[in-house]
Order: sequence, then C-alpha cells, then structure tokens
Amino acid sequence: MNYRHAFHAGNFADLVKHAGLLRLLALLRKDVSPLTVIDTHAGRGVYDLAGPEAQKSGEAQAGIVRLMTAEAPPAGFVPLIDAVRRLNDGGGARRYPGSPLLIADALGSNDRYLACELRPDEYAALQALMKGRRKVEALCADGYEIAASRCPPAGRVLLLIDPPFERADDYRRIIDTLDAARRRNRAVQALVWLPLKDLETFDAFLRDLEYRLACPVLVAETRMRPLTDPMKMNGCALVLLNASAGIEADLAAICDWTASNLGAGGLGRISTLSG
Ligand SMILES: C[S@@+](CC[C@H](N)C(=O)[O-])C[C@H]1O[C@@H](n2cnc3c(N)ncnc32)[C@H](O)[C@@H]1O
Repeated sequence: MNYRHAFHAGNFADLVKHAGLLRLLALLRKDVSPLTVIDTHAGRGVYDLAGPEAQKSGEAQAGIVRLMTAEAPPAGFVPLIDAVRRLNDGGGARRYPGSPLLIADALGSNDRYLACELRPDEYAALQALMKGRRKVEALCADGYEIAASRCPPAGRVLLLIDPPFERADDYRRIIDTLDAARRRNRAVQALVWLPLKDLETFDAFLRDLEYRLACPVLVAETRMRPLTDPMKMNGCALVLLNASAGIEADLAAICDWTASNLGAGGLGRISTLSG
C-alpha cells in the first residue's frame, strides 16, 4: 500500500467527489429516519495543503485553491466551500477536509458512521480526529469486508467506496461489495468514485455492474481532457446506486464546471443504467 491521499487532497477529483457527497447527504438528511454511512476507504480525515506532499504534487493548487477564488461556481459546490472556510477559520485553504470530516459533520443525531482505513498511520490520524464523536466508529480494517459484513439489514444506508486503485482487483471488489451489501439490504445507496483513464476499463466496469446488480445506476463523468492517453488520469466518475431523486442536476453542474474550468478541453457527462 503505497498510496497516500495527501498528494491528491483537494484536487479536481476530490472536489467532484466531496461536492457530490455533501449534496447526497443533504438530500438524505431531509428524512429524519436513522441513516448509517459506511466509508470503506476513509483516509486520515483532514489534509495539510502546505505540507510537502501537497506542495510537491501541486494538485490542490489546480483544484480547491481555484474553486475557493472562483467567481460564480455552481450552487452544488457551496456546501464544500463552506466546509473549507469553516476548517480554515474563514480564510484560505491551508487545510482540506476528507470524507470523514465532511460526513461526521453532516450527520444527524440518530445517524451512525463507520469509517474504515487500512494503513496504520492514516488510521491513527483518523482515530484521533474522530475521537469523542458519538456514533462514529473508526476501524483499522479492510473497508470492502466491513461493508459486506456490517451493512445493516434494514434502514437507510449509504456506502461511500473510494479506493486508491493501486490494485487491479479494486474494480471486482467494488462490485462484489455492492452485491453483498445489496443482498443484506436491497435499499442500500452507494456512491463510488472511479478514475477515468481509458474508456475500455470504465465501460467494462459498468457492464459488469449492470450484469451483477439489477438496480438503477447514475453515472456522472468529469472528463478533464480527451481520453487519448490511458497512462494519465484523464478525469473521474461518480457511480451512484439507488441515487436520491434530485441529485442529477447538481451533479451535472458540478462535473461541467470542473471539466470546463479546471480541465483542458474537458466535458461533463451524465448517463443512467436502468438495471
Ligand atoms: C482515495 S483515499 C480515501 C480518501 C477519502 N475517502 C476522502 O475522500 O477523503 C484511499 C484510502 O484507502 C486506504 N485503503 C487502501 N486499501 C484499503 C482497504 N482495503 N480498506 C480500507 N482502506 C484502504 C488508503 O490507505 C487510503 O488512505
């Protein structure tokens, strides 16, 4: 496990993922019945953008720093912008929130959050950050296994699956995990983040997903540039299972803005698989 999210925190892909996540949580919070969120790949929860990793990659400069100074970003970005302002006492973007902080802050008093992180050093930081938060459980464990074995059999559940894609079997494990969770609870909702390198890999994933899981799937792609070089991360996609009604327009605006303002000849694209 070499992947360190500190190099990538606050990049264009984080902006799309976190803005989409916050929008989904806001829609879910319109209903007060208890919600369980399982974050299979949580990371450390907060990132120092002045640290050597972020400075070396420059990805946050081309991402959150530009979003924070943008003139009129779409409304779907406002909750993320507000979260970054709160974390930085109103000024700048030195610290950037990861999914654990965004989720834990968005939960209602009846909700629960399981955050899984396999790297011991990242887990130690996560555990310290989440300490004292009621109904939050941080686990140093394989998130795929936890989602498959601890998905509640009843009630509202959101899975966030955000792997590093260091291993070729991440694509298969995502689908296995979604399948196992759906066998326990048909109503489970999921938000999956994927890189876009070449279209063959992505299309094969969507075909497998459609074949294995017969349920509505919403796909939001942010293509930062034409997908001509499969060695580069040319964009990212959010794949949503059983997505809450009303999220599509916000996702379209988030993806379009990111591709057109932070990309080079990019575009946003929304599609559905009917299941
Ligand atoms: C892309 S980062 C997560 C970022 C985080 N979701 C966020 O949005 O702030 C992926 C994380 O998953 C961790 N990881 C890798 N394999 C894992 C596994 N099987 N289970 C849990 N965590 C894993 C990595 O150490 C890394 O911190």
